[in-house]
Amino acid sequence: MSAYDGATVVERMRSHFDGSTDHLYGVLVRALADDWDSGGVVRDILAGREDAPAGDMVQLRLLAGIHRIVLRGDAPELARFYPSVGGTADPYAVWPALEPVLRAHVAELRTSLDVAPQTNEVGRSLALLAGLSEAVRRSGLRRVRLLEPGASAGLNLLVDRFRFVGDGWSAGPADAHLVLDGCGAPEFAPVEFEVVERRGCDLDPFDATGAEGEAYLRSFVWPHMPERDGRLVAALATLRETQVAVDRGGAAEWVRAQLAEPVGDDVLTVVWHSITRMYWPPQEYTAMLATVEEARPRMPLVRVALEDPDPLPTTGSWRPQVEVDDDVIGWCTHHGPPLELAGR
Ligand SMILES: C[S@@+](CC[C@H](N)C(=O)[O-])C[C@H]1O[C@@H](n2cnc3c(N)ncnc32)[C@H](O)[C@@H]1O
Repeated sequence: MSAYDGATVVERMRSHFDGSTDHLYGVLVRALADDWDSGGVVRDILAGREDAPAGDMVQLRLLAGIHRIVLRGDAPELARFYPSVGGTADPYAVWPALEPVLRAHVAELRTSLDVAPQTNEVGRSLALLAGLSEAVRRSGLRRVRLLEPGASAGLNLLVDRFRFVGDGWSAGPADAHLVLDGCGAPEFAPVEFEVVERRGCDLDPFDATGAEGEAYLRSFVWPHMPERDGRLVAALATLRETQVAVDRGGAAEWVRAQLAEPVGDDVLTVVWHSITRMYWPPQEYTAMLATVEEARPRMPLVRVALEDPDPLPTTGSWRPQVEVDDDVIGWCTHHGPPLELAGR
């Protein structure tokens, strides 16, 4: 049983960061849980959610709701504690700044508990770059149609608009808004490719080009990780220049519909997915794989993924793996860099 599996919402809140007090959220979850224990405003906010299942991650929904208030500039005193908006104040002093914000926004924060956490981590595009390079090398085709089930806002479909800097190599436009450095992989040789089409699907897609969508996505990035927030903001600027269509739909059905569309012989179709398979019902993945296999005789086609090993190893440590069809070509972290290539 992990520390996140406490019996009640408030126990899960208190233990979410394993008792760490190294950062703002570690301190915040304890302060919120203490307030609950003493019958404070947190009881009003969480009323009716006491029996929510652990998987709802009520604690993260509440933290994101508070973060949204900070991001839109409605809590300047509290903002002093949030590194995501430049705050540097000592987290231990946060409660007197937080409590009035909670009291002033009870209704809004209760509504924020309806919103499931959603992340679109653009560091994962490093795995796509690695997989794409391998797929282009294998196929000899440089014109690429990118299809992404589980795409969230579709930011990783902009892989060709991002710049990557690794150990002794770089890729992507020199004037890119987003520069991902620390990409590692000293032996990596990125190849040239051209994205001729890009499209994604998600069960719950949303438009991230406006202020509301931007605040929504940013609110789920932990504020003590400002480098991830900075990457997201840069990717959102890219999205405003190159819009990406993300359809509403489940992975398998959507991939089936996309692969039914005609495509030129000189185009490599790449079905890419990252950190989404674990959320799919098992039959979704099996059905998508079957669809990909069935389509292979009709078009040059490859599946590229960054996903946890499936099944998860029961012993030892593990990292998400970069998959190109049935091959594991390397490993990244859950947030992307650095990349380590297999067999190097
Ligand atoms: C952790 S997010 C990852 C998003 C994106 N792939 C990334 O790496 O940044 C998982 C996404 O998968 C979507 N999702 C979950 N089940 C799905 C399904 N059966 N079909 C399509 N999308 C799904 C969720 O809505 C969510 O946006």
